[in-house]
Amino acid sequence: MQMHLLRPGKIGKLQLKNRVFMAPMGTTSEEDGSFSDRSIAYYEERAKGGFGLIITGANQCTLEYENKACNVIGSIRSVAQASFLARCVHQYDSKLCIQITPGLGRMQLPFGAEVSPFAASEVESFWFPGLMCKPLDKDQIANLVKTMGKAAGQAKFAGADAVEIHGYGGYLIDQFCSQLWNKRTDEYGGSLENRMRFALEIVASVREAVGPDFPILYKFTPYHGVEGGREVPEGLEMAKMLEAAGVDALHVDQGCYEAWYKAIPTVYQKAPTMAWLAAEVKKVVSIPVMAVGKLDDPNLAEKVLADGAADYIGLGHGALTDPYWVAKVHSGEAYDIVPCIGCNECLNAGFKGAHYQCAVNPRCYAEMYFPVTKTADKKRLLVLGGGPAGMQAAVTAAERGHEVELWEKSARLGGALWAAGGPDFKYDVRRYAEYMTGKVYRSGVTVKTMKDASADEIARGNWDKVILATGARHAKPPIPGLDGPNVKMANDVLTSKSTFGDRVVVIGGGLVGAETAAHCAERAQKVTVVEALPEILMTVDHCRNNEQALEQLLKDSEIEFITDARVSNIDPTGLTYTKDGAEHRLDADTIILAAGYTSNNELAHQLDGRVDVSVIGDAKVADSILTATHQGFHLARVL
Ligand SMILES: Cc1cc2nc3c(=O)[nH]c(=O)nc-3n(C[C@H](O)[C@H](O)[C@H](O)COP(=O)(O)OP(=O)(O)OC[C@H]3O[C@@H](n4cnc5c(N)ncnc54)[C@H](O)[C@@H]3O)c2cc1C
Ligand SMILES: Cc1cc2nc3c(=O)[nH]c(=O)nc-3n(C[C@H](O)[C@H](O)[C@H](O)COP(=O)(O)O)c2cc1C
Ligand code: SF4
Repeated sequence: MQMHLLRPGKIGKLQLKNRVFMAPMGTTSEEDGSFSDRSIAYYEERAKGGFGLIITGANQCTLEYENKACNVIGSIRSVAQASFLARCVHQYDSKLCIQITPGLGRMQLPFGAEVSPFAASEVESFWFPGLMCKPLDKDQIANLVKTMGKAAGQAKFAGADAVEIHGYGGYLIDQFCSQLWNKRTDEYGGSLENRMRFALEIVASVREAVGPDFPILYKFTPYHGVEGGREVPEGLEMAKMLEAAGVDALHVDQGCYEAWYKAIPTVYQKAPTMAWLAAEVKKVVSIPVMAVGKLDDPNLAEKVLADGAADYIGLGHGALTDPYWVAKVHSGEAYDIVPCIGCNECLNAGFKGAHYQCAVNPRCYAEMYFPVTKTADKKRLLVLGGGPAGMQAAVTAAERGHEVELWEKSARLGGALWAAGGPDFKYDVRRYAEYMTGKVYRSGVTVKTMKDASADEIARGNWDKVILATGARHAKPPIPGLDGPNVKMANDVLTSKSTFGDRVVVIGGGLVGAETAAHCAERAQKVTVVEALPEILMTVDHCRNNEQALEQLLKDSEIEFITDARVSNIDPTGLTYTKDGAEHRLDADTIILAAGYTSNNELAHQLDGRVDVSVIGDAKVADSILTATHQGFHLARVL
């Protein structure tokens, strides 16, 4: 029986070769908002990888009321670039849908707290609390409605197969639709009919521009999941209204920036995140329903379709980590799908104004720039350390045709990924450790575990190059009593090498300390974190949605945090710390150290001058999975 994922489908009159779409995700654009050549290559790769439908990131229909935040459709060049994008996508029998938006409203980043953004009403800006938005007047609303129609017409003219209206997630259209952000007293505010007026006028304007047979998708949020936000019954009413207005498919989302992790999930959410909501929508409409939200496990995605919860499944993150997701499902190689670790470095880069990137797919958004080519100069390489840096370097070097041996000191590959993915709520990282381990063994790399070599043995091997990826060790601050039997290392606790009791104190409130505390709080009666800095998580550079999700997890875990406090002594029954000049005591049966990491790279110094050595990952500077993976990839790619 053909799996549901691969069955052909139809949205309006548009024929699709399968049930998997690439969810809309913004990319860096040209200065004028056109699709850049780089983003066209990025979309083309996903079309090549088998996605039946590619939905682009949002395109603003005008910059009259907002700064440029993403793509902008309207200029001659933007249409020309969109038309080239359509041609590229069509080579692979994939279809292109261009997402269009009238704007972000109160979610705008107006590049300073002094510029009031336009929105549905005079409500607070999200990014600049205290800054009030300016309500759009009726002429401006009418202009946006007209311009959305024009944008849809341009998308169709460019060769797109469909358009999607960006009506979700607390952005401008959704601000009009929701009583949380719409305080208007005219015909655009008040009842649901009035709040939906802007959205429905846009649908009508788009329909007029594209004609009766061109599919209009609508991405909307039937449930916000925040106090005062939309609840499901109203969301289902909206679904019926949108169907009646002639929309051809409903793309279902949940959340808003106040609970952003509900919209763009993080490592901390259990999969699937939104299929339940798609199933609710499906009960009340007869047009196709599209589901997203952590569906990159093909079994789960197939189940969503088989259960009838949705007609199509979309991959956001999953399309970034593995452009060939569909092709691998098709060819029976689903085991080789690169899983997402939920770090949201992709989103974080975009919000920092940097070029987009993916932690586990270094070629993402750089498909044209970072090809992996066969080498004409085959080398014998030794990789020391089987964490993400060493594994990625080994896999990429082997793919290029080098002869690669990997030595790992412990009994298994994965390195610190096992500790990072130790807690149940970090399953995504554990899954990546499992994936990369398998990938190394499938790549023709010679792996030797339990192999802790000396510099002499390495030097005797006559390697053309040694890649040192030996990771980092726990930093040990000079606290008396740190060597006691009641003190455990966070990595050992997270990998179950060490147990813990009912009263736990964690030293260090960075990412590792906070997550270790939450992990212990699942079983211990009392967990306290002592942090020297004025706040916890100050050293963490997380995307806002990961930050929110972790904060929620910590709140739910009922952990006590003592900040601005320095541990001065550890004894068999607890510890002493100083805060505000006074000494305090905490009783504990287990004390866990999470006070940072220092690079483990002594071998590099011992090998200096004897063999060509490069140091990567935490062995260079303790950092992240992204840094380790990218350094491993690039070193091997340009070798
Ligand atoms: C608890 C914890 C949570 C984390 N959470 C996250 C997170 O959520 N997101 C994120 O991006 N990053 C996270 N990190 C950081 C991330 O795991 C590391 O940055 C990453 O694993 C570094 O990869 P690496 O390959 O350089 O080193 P490692 O993963 O440390 O791997 C080094 C490997 O080298 C081996 N080795 C050491 N010495 C030798 C030797 N002489 N010979 C052979 N092998 C040797 C070790 O046994 C180990 O397997 C976390 C780290 C920890 C500890
Ligand atoms: C980097 C990034 C950019 C995104 N940009 C958009 C966008 O422009 N328009 C949109 O409707 N959704 C956007 N999203 C949300 C995704 O389309 C999708 O709804 C969400 O990521 C959940 O699906 P997933 O769990 O498969 O990633 C973005 C998500 C990411 C990660
Ligand atoms: S950057 Fe992180 S969250 Fe984003 S797609 Fe890649 S692995 Fe997933």
